[in-house]
Amino acid sequence: MSRICIVGASGKLGQYMIAHALAKGYQIHAVCRAKSVGKLARFKGQISIYPGDTDDRAVIQRAVQGCDAVLTVLVPWGVSQYATRTAQAVLDFAAPQARLIFSCGWHISKDGKDHYTWQLKTFVAIFGFVARLFRIADLADQVRACDTIFSSERRWTVVRGSDLEEGPSQGLPIWREHVGDPALASNLTRRTDFALFMVAAIDNPALIHQAPAIVGAGEVV
Ligand SMILES: NC(=O)c1ccc[n+]([C@@H]2O[C@H](COP(=O)([O-])OP(=O)(O)OC[C@H]3O[C@@H](n4cnc5c(N)ncnc54)[C@H](OP(=O)(O)O)[C@@H]3O)[C@@H](O)[C@H]2O)c1
Repeated sequence: MSRICIVGASGKLGQYMIAHALAKGYQIHAVCRAKSVGKLARFKGQISIYPGDTDDRAVIQRAVQGCDAVLTVLVPWGVSQYATRTAQAVLDFAAPQARLIFSCGWHISKDGKDHYTWQLKTFVAIFGFVARLFRIADLADQVRACDTIFSSERRWTVVRGSDLEEGPSQGLPIWREHVGDPALASNLTRRTDFALFMVAAIDNPALIHQAPAIVGAGEVV
């Protein structure tokens, strides 16, 4: 049985990833903020929890030890480089051959070839400005984190999520290299399926050094 680490495990995406990874028989090391450990109560006895901020290098170093893959929820909260520091710790301490899967949103671009709607550009500009003004979040931090990952030689994948919704699984999302591809027009993914894609990426070598933009597979009729 293979062992993986989930960084940012107590959030919505993280908990879905735990459920999918358990179903696939993985042993799980879960990193989450100490105050959020209670959110993982339903997984008691099934996972090993490493309490701590995800940018705490000592916590990450312990948690990723012996793991074949590390799934990281990258979030730009605060104005202290939380995402960049988290990504750097994972890149520095994960085993050399480990698969490293990171989450982010469509607004991240690997090669500048994505085509964004004016609505998305406006949302990112306004949210980014207001969040930074009130020191809630720093979108540029998530951009820097991803740039650090993109320039790494590690076996990474950066999964770029569309708008998200709750609801039962519709199966593995589809993906394209660039936002703006007509196949991604729905701009909607079930959160559980975002998690499904993150876990499935562990065993998909075609996704190494890719930044897939995903959307849900849609209703099965
Ligand atoms: N929300 C969307 O519409 C959307 C769209 C596209 C892509 N994404 C991507 O999907 C991923 C998950 O996003 P989500 O919105 O669904 O959130 P989420 O899964 O609920 O995860 C939020 C994470 O952020 C942590 N967090 C919250 N406040 C924090 C703080 N002040 N300092 C440090 N960590 C904090 C949470 O930890 P605690 O449990 O400890 O609070 C949790 O691990 C992210 O990578 C995001 O970029 C989201």
